[in-house]
Amino acid sequence: MISIIGAGKVGSACALNMIRMNIADVTLVDVQGGLAEGEALDMRHASPSFGFDRVVKGTTRFEDIAGSEIVIVTAGYPRKPDTSRRDLAQGNARIVSSVAQEIARYAPESVILMVTNPVDAMTYIAYRKSGFPRSRVLGMGGILDSLRYRTSLASELNVSSEDVQGLVIGEHGDLMIPLTEYTAVSGIPVKKLLKPERLGEVIERTRFSAMDVIKLKGATVHAPASAVSMMVESIVKGRNRLTVASVIPEGEYGLKDVSIGLPVVLGRKGVEKIVELELDSDMKRRLVEAASSIQSVISQIQQV
Ligand code: LAC
Repeated sequence: MISIIGAGKVGSACALNMIRMNIADVTLVDVQGGLAEGEALDMRHASPSFGFDRVVKGTTRFEDIAGSEIVIVTAGYPRKPDTSRRDLAQGNARIVSSVAQEIARYAPESVILMVTNPVDAMTYIAYRKSGFPRSRVLGMGGILDSLRYRTSLASELNVSSEDVQGLVIGEHGDLMIPLTEYTAVSGIPVKKLLKPERLGEVIERTRFSAMDVIKLKGATVHAPASAVSMMVESIVKGRNRLTVASVIPEGEYGLKDVSIGLPVVLGRKGVEKIVELELDSDMKRRLVEAASSIQSVISQIQQV
């Protein structure tokens, strides 16, 4: 069973994705009376269309997450057109701190998957406050940036996005780092297909993708929910997909005391391993810069 804390737009979209992908039964939790219950009832009405049986429950009671394999945390204030992810740090840290302690109390063996922004700092808060091993605390950010990077490249090259492979590490924010040296289209290095200035355009489009959507419809929903589903499926089904997640390095890439987007293998344990790639000096510098920036967000968060 997968629990989702927060039955807002992203949380409910994650729930429907989990059900439709036949990944697991779902428990939706929200402090707002009726919201999670109403979302669950609405999804249950669609059950005959699924072709299989899944249970989706809605509740305001945290104790109902007991037995969860994974607890997805979407609760928190969302971005607005004039706010950055970092602007949400103090308010959301309070929520995440309390939620992480409740998860430790009611689902002590679960994997925590953070969505709440700024997700890197929030993942670190959840790690510290839950007391879970680092393999069982991760954040959804870089995988979403990677989906957007691939989509943008596919559009630029007029090829199927299925054939574009590329990872975006670093901060889920302005200091994201597309790994252009490891980006390829059906195995063809992207730098063989795109001039540097065009690739630079693609990277800029990736960086501002979320805000483009927020300005048009007020919030990003479907792409984040799809990214969460990919991570959850790899963990629940033990698929060992190599992707990006916000994780806590203990010396990998020379980093520690932070949560940041790094290449990982996601399997039954949660984070099976952090994949260490050779990075050129510029990429290394940018990764250290992103980690320092995330650490400064964490340190500016008043005691929660
Ligand atoms: C986004 C949110 C999930 O990038 O940070 O859409």
